[in-house]
Amino acid sequence: MTLSLEGLTVARGTRDVVRDVSLEIPPGEVTTLLGPNGAGKSSLVLAVAGVLRPRSGQVRLDGVDLTHLAPERIRAAGVAVVPEGRHLLPDLTVADNLSVATFSMDREAAVRGVEYAVELFPELKTRWKVQGRYLSGGEQQMVVLAQAIVSRPKILLVDELSLGLAPVVVKRLVPVLASLAETGIGVLLIEQFAHVALSLARTAYILEGGRLRYHGTASELRDHPELLRSAYLLRTGT
Ligand SMILES: Nc1ncnc2c1ncn2[C@@H]1O[C@H](COP(=O)(O)OP(=O)(O)O)[C@@H](O)[C@H]1O
Ligand SMILES: [Mg+2]
Repeated sequence: MTLSLEGLTVARGTRDVVRDVSLEIPPGEVTTLLGPNGAGKSSLVLAVAGVLRPRSGQVRLDGVDLTHLAPERIRAAGVAVVPEGRHLLPDLTVADNLSVATFSMDREAAVRGVEYAVELFPELKTRWKVQGRYLSGGEQQMVVLAQAIVSRPKILLVDELSLGLAPVVVKRLVPVLASLAETGIGVLLIEQFAHVALSLARTAYILEGGRLRYHGTASELRDHPELLRSAYLLRTGT
């Protein structure tokens, strides 16, 4: 399934922070959304998730309009989001954090979903009864990724996968996104380390000041890093 954003505009307060953005997240590949701090990447993700209400434009999954659905309906339709900041429940164990994520699923699907997540992150089994607050940053990121995929989504949006993580941890997490894409999931990766994202992605978008400044192949950006630099240095104000 393909997730399409069509002319999406999102405001925070009275200011439009995402402006008329159209992009596609096709199945079976990683797409990356790059851009400097404050570009509007997280606001875009929150609007797709139904947490922020777009001011105009549409979000469609294979043509089906998800734009004004509640977050749980969007998730049930097959769109899962890993928001920025790795917010898991610090007092709950890994097991219970995953149970919370399967709350709205029927029992059998919940069991299968947790098994699937643990297959991808076997490390979690060894930390199963540990409270969220005692996990390393990398383990926390595994838990929030696991929470997102227990519902077996068709589309997965990951906001700032590697923020604050050691390179060795990023190396562990990145192949998981690639293998999720290989199973047919459409992945959108937002990532401060452009080289990490561009090594995985087929298509890249650059957002700057709420507007798309670039849409092309990731390999073009890899071969022409000056395109990336100029986009990041171009400050047009808001
Ligand atoms: N909770 C908020 N309330 C008001 N403005 C916000 C809030 N969060 C972010 N913003 C503003 O929205 C703009 C886009 O931010 P954000 O979507 O977080 O960008 P990015 O994820 O690309 O860094 C920025 O100007 C930021 O200051
Ligand atoms: Mg952000």
